[in-house]
Amino acid sequence: MCGIVGYVGPRDATEFLVMGLHRLEYRGYDSAGVATLSPAGHFSVVKTAGRIAELEHLLAENPAPGRIGIGHTRWATHGKPSDENAHPHMGGNEELAVVHNGVIENFHAIKQRLVAEGYVFHSATDSEVIAHLIDSCLKRQQGIAEPSSTNHQPLVSAVQAALAQLQGTYGLAVLFRRWPDVLICARLGSPLILGVGNGEHFIASDASPLAGFTDKIIYLADHELAVVTANSVRVIHRDQGFVNHSIQLLDVHEGDVGKGGFEHFMLKEIFEQPEAIQNVLRGRLDRDAATAKLGGFNLTPQQLRNANRIIMTGCGTSWHAGLVGEYQIEALARLPVEVEYASELRYRNPPLDNHTLVFAITQSGETADTLAALREMKRKGCPTLGICNVVGSTIAQETDGGFYLRAGPEIGVASTKAFTSQCTLLAMLALYFGRLRHLSFTAGMKIIEELQQLSDKVREALECSNHVREIANKYAGCDNFLYLGRQFNFPTALEGALKLKEISYIHAEGYPAAEMKHGPIALVDEHTPSVFLVPHGPTYDKVLSNLQEIKARGGPVIAVVGNGDTEAARLADEVIEVPAVEEYLQPIVTVIPLQLLAYHIAVARGCDVDKPRNLAKSVTVE
Ligand code: AGP
Ligand code: GLU
Repeated sequence: MCGIVGYVGPRDATEFLVMGLHRLEYRGYDSAGVATLSPAGHFSVVKTAGRIAELEHLLAENPAPGRIGIGHTRWATHGKPSDENAHPHMGGNEELAVVHNGVIENFHAIKQRLVAEGYVFHSATDSEVIAHLIDSCLKRQQGIAEPSSTNHQPLVSAVQAALAQLQGTYGLAVLFRRWPDVLICARLGSPLILGVGNGEHFIASDASPLAGFTDKIIYLADHELAVVTANSVRVIHRDQGFVNHSIQLLDVHEGDVGKGGFEHFMLKEIFEQPEAIQNVLRGRLDRDAATAKLGGFNLTPQQLRNANRIIMTGCGTSWHAGLVGEYQIEALARLPVEVEYASELRYRNPPLDNHTLVFAITQSGETADTLAALREMKRKGCPTLGICNVVGSTIAQETDGGFYLRAGPEIGVASTKAFTSQCTLLAMLALYFGRLRHLSFTAGMKIIEELQQLSDKVREALECSNHVREIANKYAGCDNFLYLGRQFNFPTALEGALKLKEISYIHAEGYPAAEMKHGPIALVDEHTPSVFLVPHGPTYDKVLSNLQEIKARGGPVIAVVGNGDTEAARLADEVIEVPAVEEYLQPIVTVIPLQLLAYHIAVARGCDVDKPRNLAKSVTVE
């Protein structure tokens, strides 16, 4: 959940650490800290509850000099956000400093043992045990009292011995007082990337801090530990010993990680959607065969043809995209699809066979529940596929095959462009499986043409932004919202409600429009707006009846309608027009005003749009 950075080289370390933490702040932002080390082995530790800006103020008063350092931005799991609980945590008598991302499940038992050994704890975190445990392991290594700048083996052994005792997940980085030239990092379940520079090395928990510093990266894998100095990197696997990692090219550029003139990342990302849709489609439409060209399956044609069931799994917005995919694939390919919350799937034991394809849908590729569900499905013998945005992420690496969204970094905690890219990719999957089964060449070509127009339709839908802002200002004071839609627009209703909840803290419920009369209609009064999705389609008249039921009970209605609609427009209090598209593509267009509505309401209420309270961008804990 949190962000980790590290630096060793000729620069002032805090320069990179603070910049990197700013870029990682979306991953967790309740406290932050850095530790640097002077060549003489003097630690400077500055940490605080609150945002990176507060850390920067502290650093201005108490600089942390040093050419080696580590930094952290936290999303608390154990212990409230406070100065004491902020990372880095010191081990032993200021012998070492640790930053940690993840959860140590057996921390309590280890802590009791360490307290009995005489260690004094200063925080309520699970992470502090790692620091003292490494120190305790280091002390147990006799005959290594004299540190040497070339022999890092005692450190490796101590860290390995400590890690072997931990249950849970970690991405971590450690600095040692008596070895001021080296940084050790390790991962199990939480991402870590090494950036390779010229006479310098960087560490980050995702690629964004590295953009502009180096384009050469190494992805650390689970159970790997890296020994990093200014001029060398050695990677050691728990079981396999030294590993030779090839250096990969970073595909994130400095411009991708800025706001590009927008007030918030979320707004920038909403407006990036036409381009994101072009990117996800690029090179993937095959007009000769009237199908999608999806090269990442890594399955034999026979396996693909024999697939008789699909399970989609994910969390939050990615789960909503899975629901859209269910409607799309069942409609176009007549293939049964089940969509399951990853957090449920991981502990369920559904009947499975190797004709069931499992798709893990995830923007970050690091969501702990999605990863666990994926591993469970793999264990049961299902072919697994990833639909991921972050290149090289854990889920992208662990699936048997899959497809990247190519949406570029999504920094706003509320997912927007990832959702529409996921739905577009799923539409391509529906086309692909449809063409393997019963869809005709002509039907395939029609879908290709519709997909090719999608980016322009989304661009057109974005034109409603100013009008949506006016509506947002009018309703920003309401405490409850309902979002209602049917069929393809039911998942959009869920997504609209989630967006509003996440960033404006207004209670909102998404429902299938007709289901509302089975309970939620009791909530309707003149202060509870209902957002209706009523684009033209087979259920248009039915949704209109549901809309009238709300009006009859005095509830204000905001209707998202197809261009030129007069009927729904006549009944609703507010009308937002979107361009007409085929039903299976409607969620990608109708979600646009809902993203904007949530955004403008959050701004009107003075909320921190990009960093909503209690949340973090990627949820790497269970
Ligand atoms: C979306 O706005 C949320 N922040 C959240 O529900 C998110 O979609 C979920 O945590 C899954 O993340 P992933 O796509 O990175 O796996
Ligand atoms: N579990 C640790 C803590 O609560 C790390 C949390 C994080 O990943 O930010 O401090």
